[in-house]
Amino acid sequence: MIAPSILSADFARLADEVDAVRGADWLHVDVMDAHFVPNLTIGLPVVKALLASTDIPVDCHLMIDDPDRWAIDYAEAGAHNVTVHVEAADDPVKLAANLRAAGAKAGLSIKPDTPLEPYLELLTHYDTLLVMSVEPGFGGQEFMPGVLDKVRAARRLVDSGELRVLIEIDGGINADTIEQAAEAGVDCFVAGSAVYGADDPAEAIARLRNKAEA
Ligand code: DX5
Ligand code: ZN
Repeated sequence: MIAPSILSADFARLADEVDAVRGADWLHVDVMDAHFVPNLTIGLPVVKALLASTDIPVDCHLMIDDPDRWAIDYAEAGAHNVTVHVEAADDPVKLAANLRAAGAKAGLSIKPDTPLEPYLELLTHYDTLLVMSVEPGFGGQEFMPGVLDKVRAARRLVDSGELRVLIEIDGGINADTIEQAAEAGVDCFVAGSAVYGADDPAEAIARLRNKAEA
């Protein structure tokens, strides 16, 4: 699966930019609050407008300080998947239950330096594991291959039936890096600059998909 990140889109022409990635599996939307990460993007009103303007399932990645308070709003608005950061959540088990009760898939994200091992039990409450392959906050950063060890570990547990999550990766994914991520066992690839920096975003998605399947 390919999930273009609108962080690298032209925010003045969002509807057109969403239209440009028709055929994407998910539309990845980065919500940042200038507290959890040193950047500020968009919030619920813009996400609601996006939800109303596309049939692509919306994948909300919440890089915010208080997901226990705010994540539910995105689920209730109709996001397909709502991902919170384990470093920010106070009660991630309750949070996942609330997201699922509101009809969304629940995602848990870990930053590049956050280990996976302590959260394996917690992940049994979640549908998606989002492994960050850059420090969250900005598009266009360089891929950190060291995080693939966590992907491999999660893949083994999923394949052996001990864990049931979709494995998503976010940061620095492009035509040069996607193959190693695919080999490590990623199911869903977020790509911002590699899609929206291309002359033809739809073609860029097709190219990434081919490389991931190779
Ligand atoms: C970064 C965001 C990413 C970002 C990825 O904190 O979570 O989703 O858009 O951008 P690229 O693909 O350019 O690294
Ligand atoms: Zn993201």
